[in-house]
Amino acid sequence: MDRNHNHPADDLYVTTPGGSYEVIVAHGALDQLPERLHRLGLRGAAWIISDDQVFPHYAPALIERLRAVGCNARGFAVPAGEPSKDLAMVARLYDWLIGNGVERRDVVLALGGGVVGDLAGFVAATVLRGIALVHLPTTLLAMVDSAIGGKTGVNHPLGKNLIGAFHQPRLVLADTATLTTLPPRELRAGWAEVIKHAVIRDAALFTHLEAITDPASLRGESLAAVIRRAARVKIEIVNIDERETGERMLLNYGHTLGHAIEAACGYGDLLHGEAVAIGMHLEAQIAARMGMVEPAFVERQERLLRTYGLPTDLPPGTTVSDLLERTLRDKKVRAGRVRWALPQGIGAATVRDDVPETVVRGVLEGAQRCCT
Ligand SMILES: NC(=O)c1ccc[n+]([C@@H]2O[C@H](COP(=O)([O-])OP(=O)(O)OC[C@H]3O[C@@H](n4cnc5c(N)ncnc54)[C@H](O)[C@@H]3O)[C@@H](O)[C@H]2O)c1
Repeated sequence: MDRNHNHPADDLYVTTPGGSYEVIVAHGALDQLPERLHRLGLRGAAWIISDDQVFPHYAPALIERLRAVGCNARGFAVPAGEPSKDLAMVARLYDWLIGNGVERRDVVLALGGGVVGDLAGFVAATVLRGIALVHLPTTLLAMVDSAIGGKTGVNHPLGKNLIGAFHQPRLVLADTATLTTLPPRELRAGWAEVIKHAVIRDAALFTHLEAITDPASLRGESLAAVIRRAARVKIEIVNIDERETGERMLLNYGHTLGHAIEAACGYGDLLHGEAVAIGMHLEAQIAARMGMVEPAFVERQERLLRTYGLPTDLPPGTTVSDLLERTLRDKKVRAGRVRWALPQGIGAATVRDDVPETVVRGVLEGAQRCCT
């Protein structure tokens, strides 16, 4: 089927060499699942992989709905949280799937946040050399970011996301009604990725976010519309650069220092999105020192991050030397140079590998002075 044909301009489509698929973001979207699977020709068994926080809310009704149309659906809930994203859990899921007779024509349904998406995605990419995958994201982060683009994987004791595969889903179905049960702190952390997308590629989204005075009150279609807009940024970038050789690097804005801060805090104290928010604030200051943005940009972005309940200060206990050392070890370092995704203004960003260490050190030292 030619997916570039006959769909309204408003629809969201990923078209990459690894696969083409629709991203649907709507209140109540999960109701459409049986019909959508049918339309995609996914008529085998459905294997729902979720976590124990999400499963009780949404999996029983989903299983019932799928069984009602004759689909053999069953579910597995892993313990919620990042520790489940490891090879031991992959092995347990293989046991469950293979032990229950999984077939090539079946589909894995990843029902949850980024942890479940990455884990279930990797299992789908590898079991029987790869079966169909559908993402049913239930966190804001997963809806605008992790469910789109085909990156799957698990952690290794020596580092995050070191084992994985590209495996594009056949569909992303994001039901914004699921966000009503998401803990408020997790929701706020997801806004960091929305703001990141606005900064790197969508100035109108940034202005729209600024006009929302109480983000917690966003509901229904107005929330879905913002999520669609943020998802579109990720889709556009993935469509240009599936394998992160160029444009996709821009999505790392806030993540170079964000990852260093997350690791320095020992994963757990800060949520990923919170660390990214702090990283964005620091990296905006790097861009300002490099003459890429005005100081007013830094203030404007900080105001928005704070409106969405996100931190911008370095957490206590982090040291400049530790953060610098961790930054140099980042996966995105090439030939000894850190590749920074930096803003050039609201709605535009570029990758720079010529940021002097003294600039980074200056920003970190300034941030530390502010926090003590
Ligand atoms: N593949 C990618 O491109 C990509 C991109 C960004 C992040 N990630 C990965 O995503 C992960 C983080 O994802 P996350 O922030 O979604 O965290 P998560 O999956 O751990 O979810 C956060 C918490 O919210 C709970 N939860 C999720 N949805 C819920 C709902 N609707 N109602 C109630 N509780 C709910 C979960 O049980 C969990 O406790 C990391 O492992 C990160 O590496 C992957």
